[in-house]
Amino acid sequence: MITLDSIREPVLRELAAYDAFLERHFSAEGDLISEMLHEVLSSRGKGIRPLLVCLSAAMNARTAGAAGGQRVSLAAMLVEMIHTASLIHDDVIDESDTRRGRPSIAAIWQSHKAVLLGDYILARNVDIGMRSGQFDLVSHTVGAIATLCEGEILQDVCASKQDITLRQYLDIIYKKTASLLGISASVGALAVGATRDRVTTMRRFGEALGMAFQMQDDILDYAPSAATGKPRGNDLREGKITLPLLTVLEQLPTERRQEVVAQLERCRTDETAVEALQQLVREAGGLEMAARMMQGYINKATQMLAEYADSPYRTSLINLCGYIVERNK
Ligand code: IPE
Ligand code: IPE
Ligand code: MG
Ligand code: MG
Ligand code: MG
Repeated sequence: MITLDSIREPVLRELAAYDAFLERHFSAEGDLISEMLHEVLSSRGKGIRPLLVCLSAAMNARTAGAAGGQRVSLAAMLVEMIHTASLIHDDVIDESDTRRGRPSIAAIWQSHKAVLLGDYILARNVDIGMRSGQFDLVSHTVGAIATLCEGEILQDVCASKQDITLRQYLDIIYKKTASLLGISASVGALAVGATRDRVTTMRRFGEALGMAFQMQDDILDYAPSAATGKPRGNDLREGKITLPLLTVLEQLPTERRQEVVAQLERCRTDETAVEALQQLVREAGGLEMAARMMQGYINKATQMLAEYADSPYRTSLINLCGYIVERNK
């Protein structure tokens, strides 16, 4: 089993610099907002995006140690805080009361405050970026916020219709997840002055990794909550057809397909329908079919690294590809 700790190993110094940078810059005025921000920053997630920034920066740096600079820390903060705000908003949209094994911000302080906190984090993030004067890094990253919203809206439209094609599913996960992972990998390269071609390669690498990352997240919606720290079955409860169910639906005759969609409709209010649908997907091999498609994206991501010379950073990025497939949280 590949661990995140082993993947982090070659960039521990860069990650420590990013942590210190975040601590120094990300503060709030006002008691309640400070308390909310403290809750967010003290219950951090896996930190995949800053890790991608640092590994990509180190692999693309022309001189040793160049990835420990302020530009890399700033880039890591920009992407992780976009991600953090998106999760706070996501738990409002998905009516989810658990995040990272703790009550979500929306569950503690209600939706209206969660919306404001997410907005506040996005605003502070851009503000810190602009004040730093590193405009190339800010303009490289902020577009991801709009793309993410486009993905969430598209997903909402499909959930309301209870109908989605594979093409639409791929478009949604590209926009809501893969695009920010692509930005994370490429901004790391940009921060250390890599060539335009290398920045593009890293973006493609991050995007392929990101497609796989969201597919595994959708597979993990079928896993126990104790492992993921998120409510199990929430996608079905919200009427969302993600890859495991989609692959099963595609193999069913029209009539049976309509029955399953009617059962999905009941998931909003009926927990036994959620359980039954989870079981159906499991028994019909939906998780395996989704995993096979995910592996295709992982292979694509790994191939992108072929143009780089062997190094501990490259090895970690390859291991990150393996970790994404194996992870259980
Ligand atoms: C969860 O992202 C949302 C998705 C885009 C799949 P992560 O799994 O990276 O969440 P944390 O930050 O580690 O909690
Ligand atoms: C990813 O989708 C969310 C964002 C990209 C904001 P999910 O809604 O599946 O994420 P989780 O499972 O709640 O973390
Ligand atoms: Mg969610
Ligand atoms: Mg969501
Ligand atoms: Mg999910």
